[in-house]
Amino acid sequence: MEVLRSTGAMRARSQELAAAGRRLALVPTMGALHQGHLALVDAARAQADCVALSIFVNPAQFEDAADLAAYPRCESADLAACRARGVDIAWLPPAAELYPEGAQTWVEVRELQTPLCGRSRPGHFRGVATVVAKLLLAARPQIACFGQKDYQQLALVRRMVRDLHMGVSIIGVPTVREASGLALSSRNALLAKCARPQALSLSRALGAAERACARGEHGREALLHIARGPIAAAGAALDYAELRCPESLAPAPPVLCAPTLLALAAFFPAAAPAQRVRLIDNRILTPAPSARAGRED
Ligand code: PAF
Repeated sequence: MEVLRSTGAMRARSQELAAAGRRLALVPTMGALHQGHLALVDAARAQADCVALSIFVNPAQFEDAADLAAYPRCESADLAACRARGVDIAWLPPAAELYPEGAQTWVEVRELQTPLCGRSRPGHFRGVATVVAKLLLAARPQIACFGQKDYQQLALVRRMVRDLHMGVSIIGVPTVREASGLALSSRNALLAKCARPQALSLSRALGAAERACARGEHGREALLHIARGPIAAAGAALDYAELRCPESLAPAPPVLCAPTLLALAAFFPAAAPAQRVRLIDNRILTPAPSARAGRED
């Protein structure tokens, strides 16, 4: 595995691959790699000749300095995981190259960046869109892979790539879960031990709403009420529970009549004293055909 530590080296490698007619896939990450990231590597491998994984803890997407400082960093374990999974290039660009002195260009995906996580994390998605644009423009991959767990991020990256004609295929990779149902996240490492059972309430909430939808409950408020139940019962602090259109992220109608995103975020106790960990999860709810037929009549 090559380890590249500059954007110039990454670009030169990408140009060589393109000249040789080989397809490059990029997996952008902030490190602290887990099986969810490695599933992105596998998805990239299935579609490309060469897989590059970037590791960059992007300061511009953290609105809180304490959150940035607490973000787990473990470069040697990450590089070992990349090697073991067959990553071809680990790319660790320096902050001074991605945000050079005097940088003043930002990417905003106006409507997709504001709801859901954008409300409690103002500026977060501007930081995400900007760094993803920089990574894609420097590495020039044909393909880039993102997890469906960060659904809003995936929707926003897809929109940005279309709007800016970046010519990269964006692959959304299904969420990887522990056997318990907990979605894998680098932030799980920050949870207090006693908060793990509480954190399971997110996947329980998704499951409860999905079952209710499959039984014929298609009312927006009723489904949200069902989803909030397990989170409240676990004593966690809900940030949001929302039903939205999977592409535009516009609010869902009062009665679901098409596949709809159920997105959840909640705060759980952190191992560090007096801190909280915010976790997110989501699922697409698909109303039974009879309800959709009912609407078309
Ligand atoms: O999902 C992440 O890890 C980050 O938001 C990303 C896409 C690597 C941008 O910093």
